[in-house]
Amino acid sequence: MEKFVIKGGKRLKGIVVIGGAKNSALPIMSASLLAVGDNIIKNIPNMRDVKTMARLLEYMGANIISKDDELKIDTKGIKKFEAPYELVKTMRASVLVLCPLVTRYSKAKVSLPGGCAIGARPINLHLLGLQKMGAKIELESGYVIAKASRLKGAHITFDIPTVTGTENIMMAGTLAKGTTIIENSAMEPEVIDLANCLNSMGAKIYGAGQRIIEIEGVDALNPIKNYKIISDRIQAGTFMAIAGLTGGEILIKNCPNEYLEAVIEKLKETGIIIKQTEKGTLVKGPKELISTDIKTMPYPGFPTDMQAQFMALMTVAKGTSIIKENIFENRFMHIAELKRMGADISVDGNIATIRGVNKLKGAPVMATDLRASASLVIAGLKAEGESIIDRIYHLDRGYEKMDEKLKLLGANIERIS
Ligand code: EPU
Repeated sequence: MEKFVIKGGKRLKGIVVIGGAKNSALPIMSASLLAVGDNIIKNIPNMRDVKTMARLLEYMGANIISKDDELKIDTKGIKKFEAPYELVKTMRASVLVLCPLVTRYSKAKVSLPGGCAIGARPINLHLLGLQKMGAKIELESGYVIAKASRLKGAHITFDIPTVTGTENIMMAGTLAKGTTIIENSAMEPEVIDLANCLNSMGAKIYGAGQRIIEIEGVDALNPIKNYKIISDRIQAGTFMAIAGLTGGEILIKNCPNEYLEAVIEKLKETGIIIKQTEKGTLVKGPKELISTDIKTMPYPGFPTDMQAQFMALMTVAKGTSIIKENIFENRFMHIAELKRMGADISVDGNIATIRGVNKLKGAPVMATDLRASASLVIAGLKAEGESIIDRIYHLDRGYEKMDEKLKLLGANIERIS
């Protein structure tokens, strides 16, 4: 298993270029199942979850060619309509193939994702929506089996705004008969990106990015032609936190500032300087960070995917910070590891209280999930001495060549087996 060895304490300086968004790439790759032919997607990030989605599509019969940041997915050979447990267990987003398969091929067999490190994360809302659209759903030996000769439009109201649930039902609606309305839909930028891509294929989706989305079903969709996905806002936010914590100066290119408003506002409250320049977004860390509180919320609120990285910043900020995690019930696993590095944090349910300390000290720590690993890397870059971060395969799921990018910024980081 690979690990990072980081010798902390350096001020990171330089330029970093942000690639395509993982959480756009995954649903858009699934959307290729809605059309038969060559789908071409651009700005695809080179990371493990994208490779897992490619393996899943190949398992179903797609032929995939990857060149630089471009992916060609030929869906002419799709003949299996199944997402097996072996793939779903490594990546929950595999569930995104469910609705494209049912609406395009009338059937799907998808393994239930089960619990995961950050929480139970059920898919009941995806299934309720699909059922309302006329699909017959059975649960058998840990698999969801869904069938429908042709889905029909329905009025669906989600109890909770679910990102992949909204994406799944939006894809189902594209080829359904009639109009589908999703109320209380997720408003994340990646939902808008998927809707834009689907509309470029000939779908009729209105209102993505708002609470109510309307999808007028069409008879067929064209393959994706050169759709360029948006930049990854969480990667950009992570590098902002790195500049902030190391007192460095990083110019972030391809930074999607428009999707980072809540994050930028909070980072500025801590004393970090963030400026839009002609060359990109310039982020400068202050001499001393100031504590501030956050609550994670669905977009446009502060994203849960930046909570762990923000907490790493707060470990050495002046004062006390309260962090409330409202999206996932178990997304505090980085706390025990940050404490091993000297952080002073207490937890009560979904509320963490972080009292800033003068310094962090390097330690061996264990990554438990994707964003938790990012927070440990950030803390390791600040800590005095050596940190060894184990199980960085979690980080590689959603960050593109993180160690190489950090080295270019002057970090002392090595990947070891
Ligand atoms: N929920 C239900 N029932 C459902 C669906 C969701 O109760 O049928 C609950 C979840 O348990 C959770 C809340 O609703 O408490 C919101 O979950 P959501 O469905 O929005 O999460 P997701 O779609 O599974 C996506 C991202 C996550 C990100 C969340 C929240 C993708 C592939 N994944 O997950 O990304 O944290 O939205 O913004 O888009 C990450 O990139 O590290 C990551 C975990």
